[in-house]
Amino acid sequence: MQIPDALIERLRTAQSITVLTGAGVSAESGVPTFRDAQTGLWARYDPAELASPAAFRANPTLVWQWYAYRRALVAAAMPNPGHLALADLERRVADFTLITQNVDGLHHRAGSQNVVELHGNLFRYRCFDDNELVELTTAPPDEPPRCPQCGGLVRPDVVWFGEWLPSEAWRAAVASAERCELFLCIGTSGVVRPAADLPLIARSAGAYTVEINIAPGALDGRLDLHLYAPSGQLLPALMTAAFGAAA
Ligand code: OAD
Repeated sequence: MQIPDALIERLRTAQSITVLTGAGVSAESGVPTFRDAQTGLWARYDPAELASPAAFRANPTLVWQWYAYRRALVAAAMPNPGHLALADLERRVADFTLITQNVDGLHHRAGSQNVVELHGNLFRYRCFDDNELVELTTAPPDEPPRCPQCGGLVRPDVVWFGEWLPSEAWRAAVASAERCELFLCIGTSGVVRPAADLPLIARSAGAYTVEINIAPGALDGRLDLHLYAPSGQLLPALMTAAFGAAA
């Protein structure tokens, strides 16, 4: 694919870059997206009916086991060249923020540092009742453990349907979208709000905005540049075009 000079130049010179990633960036690691994660034993459940406070209240064991299954899938996956290219880009830019909707932790495992997790993380836990974070060295696979403070049930620290995004994370995401010179929106369908607003916030604030996706979707025609290719291939190619051989 021909990479436009305008993007190469901006990658080289921007002092401030913000990236938003979605499930697509982990696809080449073999992590199924939220929507197609339902296979085998779980095929008969609708994720929207498992990922909610009401579902947990109704059947905490079932919801806990579903997350244990997803955690095992992710634990067996490895960061792909797209994750690694973003970690490399961060090392070259003074002000770099990676906002992710993913809960798989693969950006951290690839070496990214300044990661804003908008939808939480599968490997963190908190109490369903008092909301405090709970440290677990290993998560039991079958039953949710009890909160050491109040005895409430422990849940994964992810955002469920009907819940607010963590306010600190959202504030940091908006601030970085507003101040960046270059905004890359990678592997997200751009339909889940408010995350989908971030590239548009960046564009209104004057950033050069770029979408990377395998196929046109809701953001098509709404940003400055759209590149349609797998992120695990395109991101390393962008790094090579801007900075020479990969670090
Ligand atoms: P989606 O599953 O909605 O969209 C994944 C996007 O990645 C699609 O636009 C694909 O075309 C694209 N894609 C797939 N493979 C790709 C690849 N190799 N390279 C580049 N792009 C690729 O995932 P998200 O947009 O992340 O929320 O979904 C947003 C949120 O919806 C999730 O975080 C989750 C869900 O409800 C919560 O759990 C709160």
